[in-house]
Amino acid sequence: MVQNQTPDNGAQVQRASWSGKWAFILAAAASAVGLGNLWRFPYLAAKYGGGSFLLVYFILVFTFGVSLLLVETALGRYTGLSAIGAFKAFGKKYAAIGIFASSIPFIITCYYCVIGGWVTKYTFGYVAGMSSEIAGDPATFFTTFITSPVESFIWMYVFMAIVFVVVALGVKGGIEKSNLIMMPLLIVLAIGVAIYTLTMPGALDGAAYYLLPDLSKITPELFIAALGQMFFSLSLAMGIMITYGSYLDKKTSLTSSVIRIGSFDVGVSLLAGLTIVPAAFVALGSGEAVASNSGPSLMFIILPEVFFDMGAAGAIIGALFFVLVLFAALTSAISLTETLVSIVTDGAKLSRRKSILVVFIYLFVMGTFINLGYNGFSFFEPMGEGSTLLDLFDFIANSVMMPIAALATCIFVGWIIKPNALITEIKQSSPLKVEKAWVIMIKFIAPVLIVIILVAFVAAQLGVFVM
Ligand code: PHE
Repeated sequence: MVQNQTPDNGAQVQRASWSGKWAFILAAAASAVGLGNLWRFPYLAAKYGGGSFLLVYFILVFTFGVSLLLVETALGRYTGLSAIGAFKAFGKKYAAIGIFASSIPFIITCYYCVIGGWVTKYTFGYVAGMSSEIAGDPATFFTTFITSPVESFIWMYVFMAIVFVVVALGVKGGIEKSNLIMMPLLIVLAIGVAIYTLTMPGALDGAAYYLLPDLSKITPELFIAALGQMFFSLSLAMGIMITYGSYLDKKTSLTSSVIRIGSFDVGVSLLAGLTIVPAAFVALGSGEAVASNSGPSLMFIILPEVFFDMGAAGAIIGALFFVLVLFAALTSAISLTETLVSIVTDGAKLSRRKSILVVFIYLFVMGTFINLGYNGFSFFEPMGEGSTLLDLFDFIANSVMMPIAALATCIFVGWIIKPNALITEIKQSSPLKVEKAWVIMIKFIAPVLIVIILVAFVAAQLGVFVM
């Protein structure tokens, strides 16, 4: 179905749309599954006691996470507009919430492309058979690369170029097609690499640490980390799911779609952890050692060592693994970039072509700026010793702005427009069996939880406690 929309300048612009239910689910899943699942989730799981983190995370995703996904997709479909327009449709002053939420992907996309560049470099490195070169002294290899004044920029631009080609091909021709190829491959690769890793001697002890919950390890800190991870991983609170909902026809069930998207995202995180945590466990010997080697080093320094120790097979497994990470990073970056294009198109009333150009220039400049944080501007350590511009942007977007946007969205839907407006929209395509619970979640539970994360994150950052 294609909806038409008449912008103020009177020209008929055809609004993009999904070609069907599965295209939407796949695109939302492709947006959700990214570096958050493959790089961030395994390290958090290791850090917070494996199974305990998993348990809390799963419960949160299937209560709070899917409820918010439902709010956003329903809001988008109800109004037929992306974030800013969707809020503005209820009154001019509410546009502010949309503008605030929409500014978040403008921050995230820039640094996402920097990490995307690292992944691109490693993928090409492994595919070109450089596994022993990378693993010889992996820490030096990684640091030399990310601080290099030329090479690190080039790989980031390569990553950006791939993203732009897909976005320029459009929603159906580019995004849907690339998802259709990359997402199934991603699943096959994730399962294959996980199975192979688990056959390594000692890996099963790592798997036990990862899977078995130790209830004594469930702390407020763990809870807060799981909540933050959930926002980022499900691509919530930044207008993306509103935009995706706006491309959706009225027949597709929103309720079952959001459950599928949540399951997909959790499934990939689970598999990624099942590969990375046991592998690192084998290399480092204990869950604690894995936890303390978390962060960028886990994927770019520890894993290359593990692959190298696998011998000849490791070169192949390493290549497959980084192809998998690259696909996940690409589909998320494509989703982020498409959102930016859609915001510029709707907001500045520019044609899609011009909007793509504007977004491209913006990302090029900002990506270059953030990447300079690792070399030219590395003297600037905004978040403490060793931190970079990337850490600063990540903190502002992820820990401060996203909770605020989610809070504003819940208050807006729960208390201002009232959930009934969206309930009618949801019920157009499927029954809403958990209507009461959903309303309580949006009006009370979610806002309180969000305030907790927000205060905790900021307090942790100010050094009130260590997370
Ligand atoms: N959810 C993606 C991930 O886990 C990141 C992302 C955030 C993508 C916001 C799109 C929008 O990596």
